Amino acid sequence: MSRTAFLSTGFHVPARLVTNDDLAQLMDTSDEWIVQRSGIKTRYWVDTGETGVGLAREASQKALAKAGLSASDIDCIIYCTCTPDHFEPGNGVFLQRELGLTDIPAVDVRNQCSGFIYGLSIADAWIRTGQYQNILLVGAEVHSRGLDKTTRGRDTAVLFGDGAGAAVLGPIDDDGRGVLSTHIFADGRHAEKLWVDGPGLAHDPYVSVEMLEQGLHRAVMDGRDVFKFASLKMPESVAIALAANRLTPADVKLLVPHQANLRIIEMVQKAAGLRDDQVYNNIQKYGNTTAASIPIALDEALAAGRLKQGDILVLTAFGSGFTWGSAAIRW
Ligand code: ACO
Repeated sequence: MSRTAFLSTGFHVPARLVTNDDLAQLMDTSDEWIVQRSGIKTRYWVDTGETGVGLAREASQKALAKAGLSASDIDCIIYCTCTPDHFEPGNGVFLQRELGLTDIPAVDVRNQCSGFIYGLSIADAWIRTGQYQNILLVGAEVHSRGLDKTTRGRDTAVLFGDGAGAAVLGPIDDDGRGVLSTHIFADGRHAEKLWVDGPGLAHDPYVSVEMLEQGLHRAVMDGRDVFKFASLKMPESVAIALAANRLTPADVKLLVPHQANLRIIEMVQKAAGLRDDQVYNNIQKYGNTTAASIPIALDEALAAGRLKQGDILVLTAFGSGFTWGSAAIRW
């Protein structure tokens, strides 16, 4: 049986750079507060006319070019996002159309910050069983349009950014390299701790002026609980990945955690027993790009030469749902 390999990665962010000082013009916040609580210094936001699918297309084309493949070599798309362009259909089919593809499946994964690891788990199973050969796995988000950019929404508005990351996955003969394991988890008891209540079909009518006036269409978060669970569940999932592969923290060349908050990442690093050089961070530049954060960070880490063939890479994520998970990969 073959294993799943990352054939290439790519990412794309919009051109519009938004600093903490820019945010302080819109709401009662400060560079000092944001950096101290989250580590974030800048993020990128879309401009009029840009869409999540457009960002995903750019990231996908970069990844395809690096793999030396054309879009027609892809036989399945898995698109992870919690900020779709439309209620329906999902973004997968729009990306398929943008890439000039027909007839192949386009799967939408709705697992927020854990989306890329959930998507990787699905792709890995399909590639190992031979169902699909070359899978395009994309995480892409446009948060900026949904944020409440007033003081009322400042606890979430300062954290999130827009962007897209893509990976082309394919089979390699099992020589010990490739995806070694994925572990994915959820606990719906915490569903409302980070959520967008409406518009939604649980409401009748499903959209109303009152709903919009109440701000139900904005993401709201119990920041402290998110922080507490993320700091617990991410290192736990790293330990599960290592144990499943009889690895120790010393074996890890690089941990690429979901970029939620630098303080969470620092807690994860400590709990997982890893040194600074074993953990990749770029949240300072991009903020939290949810399903896009791991593939963006991975592409940057690769460009910086942080992974060589045979190195152990571990991914971990935590997010709304709550959902979380990990993956271990021998590069
Ligand atoms: N600027 C200035 N002040 C702010 C801001 C802001 N942007 N946001 C909130 N405040 C204020 C609050 O109103 C509060 O004021 P008060 O004391 O007068 O009521 C004060 O700052 C402290 O607020 P706390 O909520 O206690 O701040 P805390 O130290 O808990 O930090 C934070 C808040 C940064 C949101 C933290 O809880 C956190 O990082 N949580 C994790 C959230 C996260 O990462 N979510 C991402 C999505 S899920 C994921 O990806 C894992």
